[in-house]
Amino acid sequence: MDSKNPSSHTEEKRNTSIQGMTVVLFGATGDLAKRKLYPALYNLYVDNKMPEAFSVVGLGRTPYTDDVFLAKVEQSLRTYSRGNVQEEGLQRFLSAFRYCTFDATELKSYEKLKGLIEQRERELNLPENRLFYLSVAPGLIDVITSNLNTSGVSQSSGWKRLIVEKPFGSDLASARELNEKLRTAFHEDEIYRIDHYLGKPMVQNLETLILVNPVLDSLFNHKLIANVQITASETVGVETRAAYYDKAGAIRDMVQNHMLQLVMMTALHLPKKAQPEEIRTQKVNIMEALRPIQEENLQTDLIRGQYGKGDLFGIDVPAYREEPGVPLSSMNDTYIAARLFIDNEFWKGIPFYIRTGKRLDKKSTRIVFEFKERPTHLEDYHPEGLAPNLLILEISPNESISLQVNMKDPSTNRFQPSTITFTTNTSNQPEAYELLLHDAMLGNATFFANWKEVELSWQWIQPLLEAFEANRLPLVTYPAGSTGPKEAKQLLANDHVNWW
Ligand code: BG6
Repeated sequence: MDSKNPSSHTEEKRNTSIQGMTVVLFGATGDLAKRKLYPALYNLYVDNKMPEAFSVVGLGRTPYTDDVFLAKVEQSLRTYSRGNVQEEGLQRFLSAFRYCTFDATELKSYEKLKGLIEQRERELNLPENRLFYLSVAPGLIDVITSNLNTSGVSQSSGWKRLIVEKPFGSDLASARELNEKLRTAFHEDEIYRIDHYLGKPMVQNLETLILVNPVLDSLFNHKLIANVQITASETVGVETRAAYYDKAGAIRDMVQNHMLQLVMMTALHLPKKAQPEEIRTQKVNIMEALRPIQEENLQTDLIRGQYGKGDLFGIDVPAYREEPGVPLSSMNDTYIAARLFIDNEFWKGIPFYIRTGKRLDKKSTRIVFEFKERPTHLEDYHPEGLAPNLLILEISPNESISLQVNMKDPSTNRFQPSTITFTTNTSNQPEAYELLLHDAMLGNATFFANWKEVELSWQWIQPLLEAFEANRLPLVTYPAGSTGPKEAKQLLANDHVNWW
């Protein structure tokens, strides 16, 4: 056996149900590749989820030899892999990688790439299946797809798939334009728009969790649910990404994609194990039923905030406007909270409160269902200390399901809220990128955003972008390290509700 050739090993257990392919990675020297994609490919390999034979071609502007590139890939595995790197099999994994110095705007680069892909397909006896992963600056996406087409790189006898990273456009018009350009080279079912929130295990398992737990299923009753709260709070600030973030803001960076995807996944509520197509249709139905925030409701239904200086875990941190690369006059939003309504039969009248922000007091992504108060026939009974029942689904960084109930404290004879929590061991579970890459390799687009969802999300966001641009909504500040602006508390207090 040639231990350097991934196609020739005889290991019995390697996955044979997944077809051999070439993964073409644009942005091979970038941060995402280093932190997420190489470790994801490696862990799929270790878990026997890679095909029997595969080739990976990394592309970047910086000239590297294959040896230097392989050393960088190996370093990334040793630094970021969720599981320990196993010396056995490592060289065979790495031997699948080649590097090609590349200028995305030059047709000649694509000819060189085509030669390399075909050479590796011959050497490894691979079918001409090609998975293109675009982890590049947004401005390059359409140039690359059109050049892939013109040069014939994306025309082969096998399947072709395109994975595109966010941001998918910067507003409705640019997203539509980008989509049209992609569609000249790829069909909708060949385009995998990645949203890593859809790869988080708890999000992927939401439907099943409810289906297999009749108790949880019975709670999914619009007569019982008072409101739904979705939080994605982060402690990190803008970091070194000011050039991108100061133009995007939380509204484009988190709300248009991750938050609205969480809304869709939470609101799905399908009565049986659904097929991918049914899930997609239902998600589109939800977006269509998502009530637009009208101009006259902007002030009452939406909060945009920006962090001021503050204290995070005992350390002084600067205000957003003092961060490197951020203009002192920046009006960019680092926090959004909103009250949404889904006008369909099930969710009619039940508010969805969403909030996301940077430089908050803790890192937590969670969905909380708050249940209505006691039935009115108990009105003559007024025990003290009652709190609403809550079902809390913690998505990350830890995964858990909690139920808040009222328990009587025998020493005071008062009720007080008490929480039972069920946790999963997340220490070595597959990462979002791993699950999503594997799905794309199998041709399963269930947990990718389809065009209609993306278009409807931009359509919903567009009036808000315009209101921000024209400053028709105040930009409030909140201290770094806090739970967010006081105005966001007021948003819920107006409905006699608290954030959980
Ligand atoms: C990314 C955003 O998509 O998601 C970042 O661009 C954000 O700004 C990140 O920090 C949050 O992801 P997670 O998985 O850490 O919640």
